[in-house]
Amino acid sequence: MNTPCLCCGQDVEAFLSFGSMPLANAFVAPGDSRPEYRYSLAVGICSECTMVQLLKPVPREKLFHEAYAYYSSTSSRMSDHFRRFAADVHTQYLVGQSPLVVELGSNDGIMLQHFVDRGVRCLGIEPSANVASAAKVRGIPTICRFFDETLARQIAAEHGRANAILAANVLCHIQDLHGALQGMRALLTPEGVVVCEDPYLGDLVSRTAYDQIYDEHIYYFSLASLQSAFASHDFELIDASRQEVHGGSMRYTFAAAGTRKVMPAVFRLRQVESELGLSNPETFHRFRQRVERSRQELIALLATLTADGRRVVGYGATSKSTTVINYCGLTTQHIAYISDTTPGKQGKLTPGAHIPVQPREHFLADHPEYALLFAWNHQGEVLEKEAAFTSAGGKWIVYVPEVGIL
Ligand code: SAH
Ligand code: TMP
Ligand code: ZN
Repeated sequence: MNTPCLCCGQDVEAFLSFGSMPLANAFVAPGDSRPEYRYSLAVGICSECTMVQLLKPVPREKLFHEAYAYYSSTSSRMSDHFRRFAADVHTQYLVGQSPLVVELGSNDGIMLQHFVDRGVRCLGIEPSANVASAAKVRGIPTICRFFDETLARQIAAEHGRANAILAANVLCHIQDLHGALQGMRALLTPEGVVVCEDPYLGDLVSRTAYDQIYDEHIYYFSLASLQSAFASHDFELIDASRQEVHGGSMRYTFAAAGTRKVMPAVFRLRQVESELGLSNPETFHRFRQRVERSRQELIALLATLTADGRRVVGYGATSKSTTVINYCGLTTQHIAYISDTTPGKQGKLTPGAHIPVQPREHFLADHPEYALLFAWNHQGEVLEKEAAFTSAGGKWIVYVPEVGIL
């Protein structure tokens, strides 16, 4: 039986199921024996609007709350990325007097801090109370609520309309995408722009990066599917650019239809995309076969290493690692612990498999033989930081785009 599309109501064809999963960021305190919340993780593609999506999204209150595990500012590369992002938006789109920038999913203020520094009026919308507080402490005006049309109208009445609405790695988290788009329409000035950035479906497929699939990522956007969602609210895609962050992302700029020139990059990237076949269910059946093969290869590699008595640890207790660990059935037999710099994850156990999370200092003192790089999207930053581990003979295991040892 097919599931109705969350965007257009037409049939969604399932192409990959991971079975029952714990929540990607529900780290467990040792000794907490309460059963973990589980859900069925499966993805499909809509036969009508081609939106790739989760078949059964988890209620948002289970994901975004006062103990949200992801603090954006943990990564120095992401901090640099958002400094440039803010600068680009400022120079390209913020003209006129006292412009207002509103960011959805502003987290700990990683991007908005740069608007504050530049003296630009800004406002963050962030429903997860702990990260919202971290932003407020840094002096960034933040409303701790989920963004929707009601909130958009309240903001417009109180602060005026926004000249730019920014949304990085958050639109793909919002099940009621049309509600959010309606809200943007109500909040934006007639000449304003929406600049959003999300992991790109083209990279997920071409890199077999199946670990991008987990509870928080409800949608997996292509240019075509996101354009179609925005088009139903009379928005036009005026610019797009590839970004290397988060394992391959796309930045999109939308404006009210007909108000701005459409940049050549839009046509070029649409052409590249059509060659990838991202609207064709057959592409996703082949993707599933590669995912199944990747799983078998990772299990086989770790089984060989452990049978030889090699000591393997994990690097980065990422949200993505929850999918890999539980889908591949990895346990403390394979991975002794995972090193992670986030204080809130340290001392806890990973969701489902209960692998201990240790601070980086533990990893540095321990000298394991192999580190499985779960934070593969931060590979450049990690390898630079851990040059001593590598030069002492430590080896990195990776699984994207292929299973292997670096
Ligand atoms: N923009 C940051 C954070 C991305 S994580 C970055 O790119 O690093 C996604 C964030 O969106 C979380 O902090 C989450 O609490 C927030 N979020 C989830 N649903 C939201 C909604 N409906 N409106 C606004 N923010 C939301
Ligand atoms: P992400 O893949 O969702 O960005 O999560 C990254 C996780 O990896 C986060 O828990 C922090 C951790 N991490 C490290 O432990 N060391 C690092 O050098 C980096 C970049 C991230
Ligand atoms: Zn659809």
